[in-house]
Amino acid sequence: MTANDFIPKPYSNQVANGKVTWESPSNIALVKYWGKKKDQIPENPSISFTLNNCKTITTLTYTTKDNHDDFEFEVFLDGKQKEDFKPKIAAFFQRIESYLPFLKHFQFKIETSNTFPHSSGIASSASGMSVLALCLMSIERELNSEISEVDFKAKASFLARLGSGSACRSIEGDLIVWGENDTVEGSTDLFGIKYPYTVHDNFKEYQDTILLVDRGEKQVSSTVGHNLMYGHPFAAQRFEQAHENLAKLKPILETGDLKQFIALIESEALTLHAMMMTSTPYFILMKPNTLEIIQKIWAFREKTGLHIGFTLDAGANVHVLYPKAEATQILEFIKDELVGYCQNEQYICDQIGFGAKLIDN
Ligand code: PMV
Repeated sequence: MTANDFIPKPYSNQVANGKVTWESPSNIALVKYWGKKKDQIPENPSISFTLNNCKTITTLTYTTKDNHDDFEFEVFLDGKQKEDFKPKIAAFFQRIESYLPFLKHFQFKIETSNTFPHSSGIASSASGMSVLALCLMSIERELNSEISEVDFKAKASFLARLGSGSACRSIEGDLIVWGENDTVEGSTDLFGIKYPYTVHDNFKEYQDTILLVDRGEKQVSSTVGHNLMYGHPFAAQRFEQAHENLAKLKPILETGDLKQFIALIESEALTLHAMMMTSTPYFILMKPNTLEIIQKIWAFREKTGLHIGFTLDAGANVHVLYPKAEATQILEFIKDELVGYCQNEQYICDQIGFGAKLIDN
């Protein structure tokens, strides 16, 4: 399969005006994507848990227009016009136009809201770009009603990837693999696929409590971060390690080995940040409270034997991961000992989820 397979044949139907609403979640990578080639092709494979509660809800209203010269759209976040969102969306439209040739034929109104605070440091690009890709795919389905559910989702993921790489892992759940590798059959750089092997019950309803350590704007955008992997002294080894970690995860997921799981995801998180600390220029996204939380998690784990672990995004927030069966004791510990390190004591309780949903069409 190549990107050209996503260029549609001439459409069979005509569509005038309409409105569609989707919601799409965020996701948290276990094996991290960091480093990309042209057109958001990842340098290494990644795997993520789809989240359930952290999501973006978008209504796309479309009206046909006479001229087909330019993209025309307005964007609203929580009912307020957002001029500063427009360049990213215009760049997205530009990138996907050859796969959705109707984009210049409509005037769009994009109305969006997030279930998590916008400046929480939680990346809204995964949920935001995937939800927009799904809304656009609903228009394509009006134009070509023959598209199958499988093709619809694959193309939505393919388009979302061109908006923000990790967004391609938000269309479905509960575990998604993106990036070609030998150990996962059907894996591709072009879009995310559902993890096709057995997953132990230990990982069902796996919990993710997100500790909002720093809600400020990111000092380094992920685009800049990915680009710093070009010429990075450890890039080749890191990309190889991601392949190895994905292979190692397979028996862990199958047998439900939580100790090994935690060791692997924590190492991935720290490796991601180690890449940032060893790039030129170098940078540190963790804050003192990120480290305080990590130390507390390790001490609590040592003391209780409970299966609490963490992962990190490209930011200071800590995702505390643990099995549902241990949720009562671990959540109590989080509230008593960790929430004090969060900005304004803010945290979000989430868990593994099953992907995007059509709300209204
Ligand atoms: O999708 P982007 O370009 O914002 O990159 C996200 C990268 C990480 O969140 C750090 C890792 C990942 O695999 O999600």
